[in-house]
Amino acid sequence: MKPNKHSIDFGKEEQYLNSDKFVDQIICGDCYQVLKEMPDNFIDLVITSPPYFQQREYGGGGLGNEDNIDDYINNLATIFQQCVRVIKKTGTIVFNLGDKYLDGNLLLVPYRFAVEVQKRNPVKLINELTWIKINPTPKQNPKKLIPSTEPFFIFSKTDNYYFNKDAFLEYHDKCLNNGRKKVGNEIGKKYFELIDRSILSDEEKALARKELNETIVDVHQGKIESFRMKIRGLHALPYGGQAGGRLSQIKNKGFTIIKIYGNSMRKDIIESNVETIKGNIHPAVYPEFIVQELLKLLTKEDDIVLDPFLGSGTTAAVAQRLRRKYLGIEIHPEFVEHAKNRIRQNINNHTLDIFI
Ligand SMILES: C[S@@+](CC[C@H](N)C(=O)[O-])C[C@H]1O[C@@H](n2cnc3c(N)ncnc32)[C@H](O)[C@@H]1O
Repeated sequence: MKPNKHSIDFGKEEQYLNSDKFVDQIICGDCYQVLKEMPDNFIDLVITSPPYFQQREYGGGGLGNEDNIDDYINNLATIFQQCVRVIKKTGTIVFNLGDKYLDGNLLLVPYRFAVEVQKRNPVKLINELTWIKINPTPKQNPKKLIPSTEPFFIFSKTDNYYFNKDAFLEYHDKCLNNGRKKVGNEIGKKYFELIDRSILSDEEKALARKELNETIVDVHQGKIESFRMKIRGLHALPYGGQAGGRLSQIKNKGFTIIKIYGNSMRKDIIESNVETIKGNIHPAVYPEFIVQELLKLLTKEDDIVLDPFLGSGTTAAVAQRLRRKYLGIEIHPEFVEHAKNRIRQNINNHTLDIFI
């Protein structure tokens, strides 16, 4: 790594760790140094939001204020490499990064990072989850739109990573299903009429009625939100793109049913406010809600969750509430104290799950 006045002193040896106790701990130190002391393959999830490039001075030294973008990416990639080493084969790594304008030009920092770490490590980028900020900072630039998204990159070490898709945004689904408008008895009626009027053979009509009935049951049970049906001779034939399957269904059996899964589809976007936690001394806290949903997606109870840039302790606090084990590293002693307090408050309040 090219040294400069803001480089991390990776040569400095510190006495952070004196034993194998890496679980449910918050360690004050430089994460690279601490990570180097850790064994291989024992963490289930690394989730973190490192300091963004030239965004702010946290007062503890460390990463983020390198003179140029290449040094920043290099420093961060070196830490990422240690994260890859410490996670289990079933583990995943989530990095949340923000972008940066330099002389009016967007640097695409997160993507430079994602490309670099893929070159250096045998990891796969399995998803880019886009955080849509409901209340982005209204930066005053008359000739630019307001940046209001940030990526959470999800990397895996092998193809055998833990991934509980149903648990992701499950709470939203419950709200949606509770608030669902009642499905009336008329649903599908127009399609039964169209089948009767169609040029389909009696056999094809019978099959169309049977599958239509089954699809209506799926709607009543909340498995799908709604559906569309296309019948030979009545509807235009699909073309292009993914039409192949549907086109052959219409030709071969006389109809096709397109199921609409609505919001219960697990999409790679998540909406959340930019956090403003009362009493928090940290200037750049990431949303508890997003951390919660990613922990549910990527870990089980008792799994170990590591955040090498712990800041105010968001990751540890959420992990604890969801009954995961946590390990946090933070270079600034004041933030370490704050994070430890959050954990103590958690224990006192017994606040488990779920906040949106
Ligand atoms: C963007 S903040 C993380 C905020 C955190 N996600 C939260 O919700 O509070 C990045 C943190 O990394 C810390 N930091 C910077 N360089 C570090 C290093 N080399 N090792 C450990 N922590 C570091 C900074 O002090 C800062 O608190």
